[in-house]
Amino acid sequence: MKEVREDLLERGYSRWQFGRISALLGLGSAAMAASPLISRAAAARSVPAKAPIEEVQSKVGMVRLGSNECWTGPFPEAAQAGAAMVQYGNRYEPSNLHAQLIDTVAQVEKVPQTHILPWPGSSDPLSRTVVTFCSPTRGLVTADPTFENAWRTAAWLGVKVTKVPLRAENGYATDVRAMLAADPNAGIYYMCSPNNPTGTVTPLADIKWLVAHKPAGSIVLVDEAYIHFAGTPSAAKLVAENRDVVVLRTFSKLFAMAGLRLGLSMARPDLHAKMMRYDGTSQSGTLSIVALATGTASLTRAAAIAERRKQMIAAREETFAHLKKRGLTYLPSNANMFMVDWKQPAQTMRDAFARSKVDIGRSWPIWPTMSRVTVGSAQDIQAFCAALDQIMA
Ligand SMILES: Cc1ncc(COP(=O)(O)O)c(C=O)c1O
Repeated sequence: MKEVREDLLERGYSRWQFGRISALLGLGSAAMAASPLISRAAAARSVPAKAPIEEVQSKVGMVRLGSNECWTGPFPEAAQAGAAMVQYGNRYEPSNLHAQLIDTVAQVEKVPQTHILPWPGSSDPLSRTVVTFCSPTRGLVTADPTFENAWRTAAWLGVKVTKVPLRAENGYATDVRAMLAADPNAGIYYMCSPNNPTGTVTPLADIKWLVAHKPAGSIVLVDEAYIHFAGTPSAAKLVAENRDVVVLRTFSKLFAMAGLRLGLSMARPDLHAKMMRYDGTSQSGTLSIVALATGTASLTRAAAIAERRKQMIAAREETFAHLKKRGLTYLPSNANMFMVDWKQPAQTMRDAFARSKVDIGRSWPIWPTMSRVTVGSAQDIQAFCAALDQIMA
């Protein structure tokens, strides 16, 4: 495989852009290569440099419906499996935990073991995929609104970003035909399904259509962070068929491991090899044994997954009923979040909820009167509804 510098310059990056990529990926620095690149970026984003301590403290004692976290911890048996690893923390790998995770994913997702890579969360492989498959001549196409990490990485690199608005006529699903029309020669077509922040699912048939019609050399990147909350079919099937598809998963959502950090990418080995050439050491070598054990023990708990999904749906439906009663409109959702339209600046409502000790999510510039609200426990939702009543009184 070509040397990274040579490859980037050939793909049209300037020397200046090459410098930025080197800094982002820690090229040439063993210390940086060994640490998760985007967890650093995510940390910088969630805790602004100006007032780190205050920002963190401001969430203490609040009902947390702002960050799409799970309302409860990992499944008890999974937490026990993770806790049992702590005493072996003196070893980098006391047993074959990486292999066990990969074997389990292969069985559950029906994807070959050779196509699975574990990560400390999915933010890192998300940005890494953009660096690998986009370039000054092959841009990124994304829905709007959606999770912005991919477009932020592309914009930061100076790569063209094409945003295709979600539309009511399309059920707020990612519009794959409009995406291809908007940039027929992109390097990546990114979709998040279920989408953050709408919770809407893009049908697998649409993803297949895009894979069949996209230009040669491009990738369809499917971010399935919330798929367990929807219970809909995964694009992992296309990975098993060796298509030009990268599927990302995180254990931060239904598996409730956001602070433990575990994610996966599933892709053909040659695509993974391209993603890994920007890093001397595989990120997989740096994973916490607690996260590996907790994650592996979570994947096969089909009944517990279904039960957690059921609880979330019940809480979501209760919230929708309350919003309706209040005459408010919201977008239908298949996941643990939804968009509610306040018909006034979303930040005003976010501030009002914060005064009632409820932290709701943010808005996206394309829909400035809508907030994203994460579905929490039944108790969290009662607090949300009570705060709403107070604000509207
Ligand atoms: C759609 C989507 N993808 C990826 C991530 C990254 O999650 P993590 O880095 O915790 O795996 C998030 C986090 O909220 C997300 O919403």
